[in-house]
Amino acid sequence: MCGIVGYKGNKEVKDVLIEGLKSLEYRGYDSAGIALKNEQGVEIIKSVGKIADLEKKIKKEKLIDCDMGIAHTRWATHGGPNEVNAHPHTCGKITLVHNGIIENASDIKEMLTKEGVKFKSETDTEVACALINYYYKGDMVKAINKAISEIIGSYAFAILCSDDDEIYAVRKDSPLILGIGEDELFVASDIAAIINYTDQYILLDEGEIVEISNDGYVITKNGRNVDKKVLKADISKEAKDKCGYDHFMLKEIMEEPTVLQNTLKPYLEDMNKLIDLSEYEEIHIVACGSAYYAGMIGKSLLEEKAGIRVVCDVASEYRYKKIIYDRKTLVILISQSGETADTIAAMRKAKSEGVDTLAIVNVKGSTIARESDKQVFIEAGPEIAVATTKAYILQVAMISLMAYKAAVSKGLEKGREVLKDFELLPRMLKEVLDRREECLKIANKIYNKEDIFFIGRKIDYSICMEGSLKLKEVSYIHSEAYQAGELKHGTISLIEKGMPVFGIITDKDIREKTISNIEEVKSRGAKVIVISNEVLYKYDYEITVPKVSDYCQGVLVVPVLQLIAYEVAKIRGCDIDKPKNLAKSVTVE
Ligand code: AGP
Repeated sequence: MCGIVGYKGNKEVKDVLIEGLKSLEYRGYDSAGIALKNEQGVEIIKSVGKIADLEKKIKKEKLIDCDMGIAHTRWATHGGPNEVNAHPHTCGKITLVHNGIIENASDIKEMLTKEGVKFKSETDTEVACALINYYYKGDMVKAINKAISEIIGSYAFAILCSDDDEIYAVRKDSPLILGIGEDELFVASDIAAIINYTDQYILLDEGEIVEISNDGYVITKNGRNVDKKVLKADISKEAKDKCGYDHFMLKEIMEEPTVLQNTLKPYLEDMNKLIDLSEYEEIHIVACGSAYYAGMIGKSLLEEKAGIRVVCDVASEYRYKKIIYDRKTLVILISQSGETADTIAAMRKAKSEGVDTLAIVNVKGSTIARESDKQVFIEAGPEIAVATTKAYILQVAMISLMAYKAAVSKGLEKGREVLKDFELLPRMLKEVLDRREECLKIANKIYNKEDIFFIGRKIDYSICMEGSLKLKEVSYIHSEAYQAGELKHGTISLIEKGMPVFGIITDKDIREKTISNIEEVKSRGAKVIVISNEVLYKYDYEITVPKVSDYCQGVLVVPVLQLIAYEVAKIRGCDIDKPKNLAKSVTVE
């Protein structure tokens, strides 16, 4: 999942492209490159590593003036992160950048090699470039249409041809927008790359080819012109700013009370606006990473409180499983970006079987938001840090409120206590975040450890999974979340003197059981850190959050684990907003 951007206009092209790449860097940062089209041809500059490295290189170059170019930041899939594999790739008259995976690249490469085409890199992208060049006989749109009719996989391409002064772009599965400015035009993987210049954009649909020339833009599909609605982006320039925080991750954690308020308010004012899940006999919650862990909390509440049968599965498994839809089933897709390839595939699988789909999604206009039957939008705003924080909290809050509504509809919940908790939640969350010092104290005790465990039972285990993932992905400490009762069946052999073990205890029904499991690791020398909604005075370190109904408890516990992960990563000097090997939205499978 790379980031691509293209520009044609009167501003300094390299600056607009670099600015765009910086905003897309959360999509991948293994290497980067730009291609500038001037009277003498196409100038390409590439470098391994972050955009800053490319910028340094560009500064050394004496570049010829130009009015158009394309650029790329890479998350390596085919071929290692090196300069040869970095984009843009050129073959004959064609230069292009790509986000996605060409699944039949080796077959196409074999065909082209027989035709005498030579390849410099290990990438699938260069193969696509060579294929377009192979079919190009003076009509670029014809060549692109021919090539994409043979390409299997996902792609967003931005393309230059040395014969003309145009930028071409086309997509399938990978996101791509056309940005419309004052006498300037852009293509980009998402609006963040161009929001400093325009908030006017067009969402390109699959197979639509956009041509940007001195006369403006034309969009065609299978050779016919397509008229498209121009949309206005609802994100502010400030949203892309750290606003004085050291990292986007910390800024986004501290935004949680406000965005929670904004997301819950319309539903707390009128619960009729919220979908009633009680009409379904079975619910499948499908997602990836943290979104999946948010789904696990939803599963616990929908089963325990609303008595609805729930399957919660990771999308990369669900999409290839034999699924039996033999009841009135709803498939809920949870996704911050709305562009995660496996979750998209799981959605399309359910739709192809005529099953209802509901998306809990942050990015409006994303593929999952557009293709799902129903949507519940979380109002997190742009989430820049690769490690999700505010979006996860809103996903948990929304699916918990939906579980509560279903339980009320089924007569399993009465009274307003729970709704009161939801109304007070933003303020209580703010109070929890104000205790950052306590999280820092714990971080100072564990930052130099290489193995850490999180243990809990039922909904607390789901909280452990997110706490463990947060710590892993930003601090690179190996940590595991474990069902507390399962530890003694093997893994407890790993517990050593001084090893940190987080115990999460919020579920009163199994509190004593979890405490006895914590005692088991404590007796083997573990350094125990307990996050609970009751003061225990029993362990090395304890953080107690306000006690609220089960529907709301997770929203008050996970931010503590987010802050601890943040502080640990900061002490370890990690690249918190852009952890190695990761990307914000995983648009390849
Ligand atoms: C979480 O911090 C990670 N960035 C990752 O696990 C993420 O939750 C996962 O890739 C799903 O992304 P999505 O919500 O955009 O679909």
